[in-house]
Amino acid sequence: MSVPIAIVPAPRELVVEEGRWITADPAADAVRTVVENLPDTEYRIDVTPDGARLSGGSDEALRYAESTYRQLLDSAEQVDGGLAVPAVRIADAPRFGWRGMMLDVARHFMPKEFVLRIVDAIALHRMNVLHLHLTDDQGWRVQIDAYPKLTEVGAWRPETMVGKMSHGQTEFSYDGTPHGGFYTKDELREIVAYAAERGITVVPEIDLPGHMQAAIAAYPELGNHPDRQLGVRQYWGISDDVLNVNDETVEFVRTVLREVLDIFPGPYIHLGGDECPDVQWRESEAAQAKQAELGLTDASQLQGWFTAQVAAVLTEDGRRLVGWDEMVETDCPKDAVIMAWRGPDRGEVAAKAGHDVVMAPNQSVYFDYYQGDPATEPLAIGHFTPLEKVYDFEVIPPGLTAEEQARIVGTQCQIWTEYMEDPDRVGYMLFPRLCAFSERAWGSEKTSYDEFIGRLRPHLTRLEALGLSYRPLD
Ligand code: ACM
Repeated sequence: MSVPIAIVPAPRELVVEEGRWITADPAADAVRTVVENLPDTEYRIDVTPDGARLSGGSDEALRYAESTYRQLLDSAEQVDGGLAVPAVRIADAPRFGWRGMMLDVARHFMPKEFVLRIVDAIALHRMNVLHLHLTDDQGWRVQIDAYPKLTEVGAWRPETMVGKMSHGQTEFSYDGTPHGGFYTKDELREIVAYAAERGITVVPEIDLPGHMQAAIAAYPELGNHPDRQLGVRQYWGISDDVLNVNDETVEFVRTVLREVLDIFPGPYIHLGGDECPDVQWRESEAAQAKQAELGLTDASQLQGWFTAQVAAVLTEDGRRLVGWDEMVETDCPKDAVIMAWRGPDRGEVAAKAGHDVVMAPNQSVYFDYYQGDPATEPLAIGHFTPLEKVYDFEVIPPGLTAEEQARIVGTQCQIWTEYMEDPDRVGYMLFPRLCAFSERAWGSEKTSYDEFIGRLRPHLTRLEALGLSYRPLD
């Protein structure tokens, strides 16, 4: 009985040939070369009875070849003389350049060791971006030397609401358990280096000017009511407490961002931009004066101004701004990469406006949504995104010309951790949905859901080998 070949994500082209290659150590004995006659991201694997050859158009492509080859070797059989590897011909390349996963470490802090295992899982699925959501109302998770209270105060909350938050809820019961933590610069550099060795870019997110209550709790002068001492937020939802638009706050954020740039060498820096209520700017004399001074007609326009002011430090350093799709409505720089999260239509709007776009629509790739019956599943934020829906995800939104479609640079799945208090729960929500997602990000052929499940079953042991939990198949 031969073991089935189960490669996830499926290569674009895989042909099983006659015969097998028998050798003592097929991982060591394969020949690997970077070749000039292949495009940068393309690789080939040729296993014949005489040996195995891995070739890639670049080091990056050769890394993909290696990852696929390791999965192929799981189907090698122990025989006299060593291991028998099935003869195959694989020709493969990714469809999209951005194949990402976002991990929210703000709502619940996740230990560094777990983040490293997530990097392993991203590499296993030939994905190449880890987006770390490092700051939010409920916690600030990155060491900033100029402003130590961001972590001394902002990284901790005395307790957290229990149960599921409903719309408009104002009364909560709390768990009585302090929660918090942050990454030192050295720890983040370790994550960045570990990811880089695996071909993965870490994109840090400092979410602003909304989702900033933890920072305002640490430094009340950043808020619109500097006389009020806020706490780090202990329940979910969207806080009205957003940054003020004073020049001193612009300078504060620029200083923070310069330190962030120093930790994260990658080309992309995410500045959030989602869900920023402007109610406090409407009520604030200082914000109103700023609005008048800038000749803006509405308080909501202050968000675009503020973002442009702080994003200047990215441009000076040759980095590129990434933001959630609300940014398109705020007169943001045209070279900003937009993450379309509110729906496929937001990706369409952003692409038509000339932006590069990463498709992250909540309806398909928010993995904080239920994947089964809420009566029997662990508490989740709502909605329903079972595995098959992720498998069926269409990355490219409808209604785009060929030129606009080319602006869809990739796709990303999201793990928001309001209802995930530890790595075990994150694993349960993330896998195996990420496995299905990786096929759409890579551009694997959609054959049938049953065919995918056939490959997924043996693939799950690879997650176990990484020490990651997952939701068992139905
Ligand atoms: C988001 O889900 N607020 C980006």
